[in-house]
Amino acid sequence: MKVPPVNLVRQNAPFREEFERALREILSDGHFVLGPRLRKFEEEFSRYIGVNHTVGVNSGTDALVLSLRALSVGKGDEVITTPFSFYATVEAILLVGARPVFADIDPDTFNLNPEAVENAITPKTKAVLPVHLYGQPARVEEMRYPGVKVLEDAAQAVGAERKGKKVGSLGDAAAFSFYPTKNLSALGDAGAITTDDPHIAGRARRFRVHSQTDKYVHDDVGYNSRLDEIQAAFLTVKLRYLERWNARRREIASVYTRELKGVVKVPYVDEGNVHVFHQYTIRAEKRDDLADYLRRKGIGVSVFYPVPLHLQRVLKEEFGYREGQFPEAERAAKEVLSLPIYPEMEDWQVEYVIESIRGYYGKV
Ligand SMILES: Cc1ncc(COP(=O)(O)O)c(C=O)c1O
Repeated sequence: MKVPPVNLVRQNAPFREEFERALREILSDGHFVLGPRLRKFEEEFSRYIGVNHTVGVNSGTDALVLSLRALSVGKGDEVITTPFSFYATVEAILLVGARPVFADIDPDTFNLNPEAVENAITPKTKAVLPVHLYGQPARVEEMRYPGVKVLEDAAQAVGAERKGKKVGSLGDAAAFSFYPTKNLSALGDAGAITTDDPHIAGRARRFRVHSQTDKYVHDDVGYNSRLDEIQAAFLTVKLRYLERWNARRREIASVYTRELKGVVKVPYVDEGNVHVFHQYTIRAEKRDDLADYLRRKGIGVSVFYPVPLHLQRVLKEEFGYREGQFPEAERAAKEVLSLPIYPEMEDWQVEYVIESIRGYYGKV
């Protein structure tokens, strides 16, 4: 493939020696979980995001689930979220026994529309769960209601900023994923929760070790969800490069936007946002045909996401959601196409993608 969707071998190659050194240290001192490397990563990540607490966990999905539990969201509660995200966003709400209530998206940013959130608020609303989709911050400050918590799904947006503050510091708590394709990635599954609230952080910390309050004493039903020492060490090494990588992503995005404007609908960056372009997502006429054409030319394009969350089986069958309820999300699912974007991408590859898209529309 001329332009793969990501290149993880290339991304991790420069760190081989540092990774090997970290592994040797771990093999020598025998701390595999909840040790000094996790503490160091949690401290450095908190400083980077600008929060008081980071709690490392197994995955972004667990970060969402444990955050909801830490915010005391459970049975009988409603959580307002977007119908246009990865399944884990709604899965977390379902896993804690709460009811997902969808609000439609803003067609320009693909993020939750604050007005739609307002219309979805009921006395049962316990939390709002905005997703910073594709690396662009949602308008979290417009989703604040008395007695309603805000949990950010920041899985795709590490390093992004809204009005001078990093995502992860905008709500009551936030969930990050360090899945291998994310902007900051582990060499396997990993995730983290960030918060300023010591009470929320303490609850999340207990939940990740079976709600243990003392050795073999448990005060609730928790999880086994720890970010292990190996991944924490790797993440600490890579965190130092995140700003540089995000800057390169923005540079590629600006070239795409300059060259593709008027050919396809290019991403809109909301005022006050620093976008980190986890994805560079266009809207295109004849999307599926364009995608097939680009794939035949060796370009790894993707559709995130072809099925909106309210139309997934469980949501339809158990909650009665149906087609037509969230027209903007449904339209986006039919029109979006994400182009390859990653820091290791070479300029000729960016140009090749641009030429191919212009060629498809006869605008060379
Ligand atoms: C928006 C969003 N939320 C949650 C997740 C779940 O993260 P993980 O795969 O680390 O469990 C992901 C990514 O996979 C995601 O893109």
